[in-house]
This record gives sequence, structure tokens and C-alpha cells, in this order.
Amino acid sequence: VRNTVDEFSVEEKRGLYRAIYERRDVRSQFLRDPLPAPVLGRILDAAHHAPSVGFMQPWDFIVIEDATVRAAVHANFTDANRSAAALYTGPRREIYDSLKLQGILDAPVNLCVTCDPERSCGHRLGRQTDPATVLYSAACAVQNLWLAARAESVGVGWVSILDLEALKSLLGIPAGHTVTAYLCLGFVSEFRPKPDLEEHGWERRQPLPSLLHFDGWGRHDDSRAASLFPAATAVSAE
Ligand SMILES: Cc1cc2nc3c(=O)[nH]c(=O)nc-3n(C[C@H](O)[C@H](O)[C@H](O)COP(=O)(O)O)c2cc1C
Repeated sequence: VRNTVDEFSVEEKRGLYRAIYERRDVRSQFLRDPLPAPVLGRILDAAHHAPSVGFMQPWDFIVIEDATVRAAVHANFTDANRSAAALYTGPRREIYDSLKLQGILDAPVNLCVTCDPERSCGHRLGRQTDPATVLYSAACAVQNLWLAARAESVGVGWVSILDLEALKSLLGIPAGHTVTAYLCLGFVSEFRPKPDLEEHGWERRQPLPSLLHFDGWGRHDDSRAASLFPAATAVSAE
């Protein structure tokens, strides 16, 4: 049975999956070329079309290009990363120290995505039972942005190793709002085929069947899982 209502063409589907599989977290490959304003506008509008609980749209976006502001954020990262690195010892510490975990000064645009948990928009529909849905909504905006950016050949890197309270005061973010994401955006020299953390031997992608449960937790089923992924239609880029 095939439902063809408003069907995507083969090319359109390919484009969507390409954005999904070829999206990368970029830290090292940023070019300094400025982002054309309409490109940034399209990426932001994609974020603004994310799903949100009760149609609450809890997000705001702070576009940061000013070198002084970015230098202050970079200093914030350097301090936070020193503490984060101290959690590791031995070979894992060596890998950690070899990782580049941000492109704050390299990327021409930084973007802070914030979340307002008290926004009246949406009239609290859907969020009484789980306040975290507000945060998930803002994260959906980031994912939309990330995929649209890939389609525009724009790299995005998410920087979470930051003292968020210090970041909030630096950017003048109101007390009740939270920082969802601090992102670095720019054109890139290349999109690497695999996650940086995989290339550096930090972590690998887990086999999807091991994460699939059928009709209840812990009920793995190799043959049902295999039926979902006939080799001929595998689309993963890896
Ligand atoms: C919530 C979140 C926070 C992240 N924080 C950082 C970070 O601080 N520094 C960094 O280099 N990458 C960060 N990343 C990127 C992940 O390391 C990356 O998504 C993961 O290794 C998979 O690689 P890929 O995005 O290229 O597929 C973050 C990603 C997410 C979703």
C-alpha cells in the first residue's frame, strides 16, 4: 500500500536524506567568508518552523558577529573546557586534549538559541504533564536549523562546554530564559564523512538493532529488526 498524497519526488527525498546523513557538527573546517544575510535568514526561518509543544515557539535567536563578544565567549569556553578536561585521565585525556570542541572565533557567525519556559504563546497546551517538552521544542528548532544549514552548505557546531550563567549575563539574556544552544555557523572547506568524535576514536555509532525494542522494553528481535533494514535500501552514508 502506498499513500502518494503530496509525495516527495525521488530527488526531493534524496535531498532530505542527504541533509540528514551528511549533516556534521563542524569545529575545524570553517571558512571566514561572511554568510550572506538571506542564507542566514532561510536557516533561521527553518528553525522557526520547528514543532513546539502547544505551538508555543519558546525560542529566541541572538545573532553574534561582534569580535569582542565572540572573544568573551571564547574565554568562557576556555575556562569551562579546562574543568571539563580535568575529569579525564590517561589515554582518554590524551584524546580529549586532541579534540577541537568549538569554532567560536573561526566561524563568521555565532548564534545563541534561547528558550523561554514561561512563554504564554500556546496557552500551556501539552506542557502541564511534562515541562521538559518546552526544552525539547527548542531543541527541535536547533535540529531544523542544522539540517537547513547543511542544505545551504553551511556548517554548524554546537558548543555546550560553557558556563551558562556567565554566558547569560554576557549576552543580557533575561533571568527566566535558558540557553538551549550556542552555535557556530559558517561555510566550510569540507563536511567530513564521519563524526569528529568517531574519527578521533572517542566514540562510535551504536548498531541500531541493539537499540530497538518490540512491544516492550528489552524485547529485541533480530529478524524483525533485519526486516526493517534490507541491505538494498540502506541509505546510511557510513
Ligand atoms: C546537545 C549537544 C551538545 C553538543 N556540544 C558539543 C560541544 O560542546 N562541543 C563539540 O565539539 N560538539 C558538541 N556537540 C556535537 C556532538 O559532539 C556531535 O553531534 C556528535 O559527536 C555526532 O557528530 P555529528 O553531529 O557530526 O554527527 C553537541 C551536540 C549536541 C546535540
